[in-house]
Amino acid sequence: MEKKELMDKISKKVRNCNKCPLYKKAQNAVPGEGNINSDIVFIGEAPGANEDKTGRPFVGRAGNLLEKLLDDIDLKREDVWIGNIIKHRPPNNREPQPGEIAACEPYLTLQLKAIRPKLVVTLGRFAMYYFYKGGKISRDHGNLIRADKGLYVYPVYHPSAGLRNGKFREALEADFKRIPQILKQIRIEDNSNKVTSSNQEEKLKGQLSLEI
Ligand code: URA
Repeated sequence: MEKKELMDKISKKVRNCNKCPLYKKAQNAVPGEGNINSDIVFIGEAPGANEDKTGRPFVGRAGNLLEKLLDDIDLKREDVWIGNIIKHRPPNNREPQPGEIAACEPYLTLQLKAIRPKLVVTLGRFAMYYFYKGGKISRDHGNLIRADKGLYVYPVYHPSAGLRNGKFREALEADFKRIPQILKQIRIEDNSNKVTSSNQEEKLKGQLSLEI
């Protein structure tokens, strides 16, 4: 299956999902959006009120800050792919529960398998835990991690934390400024392993199927 077709099918599955109770109170599912050919993706926690209303990720105040941070490194939201670990809004923006995270997990796993980004920037601790169970955001933000499934993960604070607290905002700005250099380094390493990755690409093409 081609990447675009697969991504559309995953979005459709997400919109019809009833694997945990969150869908009952949500207005819209938020599958994620953006450039599915981007080398870099940004993964948040869960939709808030604005995202629930529109079905789009990061369109409220946290989204405005995310766009500003992207602009600082010459990126627009359309250049990258933006998603969440949880696709329906938890009531009153409460923290996602382990059962909800587990129910939603296959969607993001499959989305990342299709996009195959070189770098996953996780926004906040829940998105970081998804890839790195032993993580601690105060210690690990701004450090590149080689996570499972060969993914490079770069944890940063959640933009909402940056809106609440000047120290988190400073850390977010500093961590974002390092992204272009980190991506450049990963691309250089990737190029020196080119033969292996084109073999992997062939293998992956065969594996892209909808198993949710
Ligand atoms: N916060 C998130 O983690 N995700 C969104 O989409 C919006 C706010």
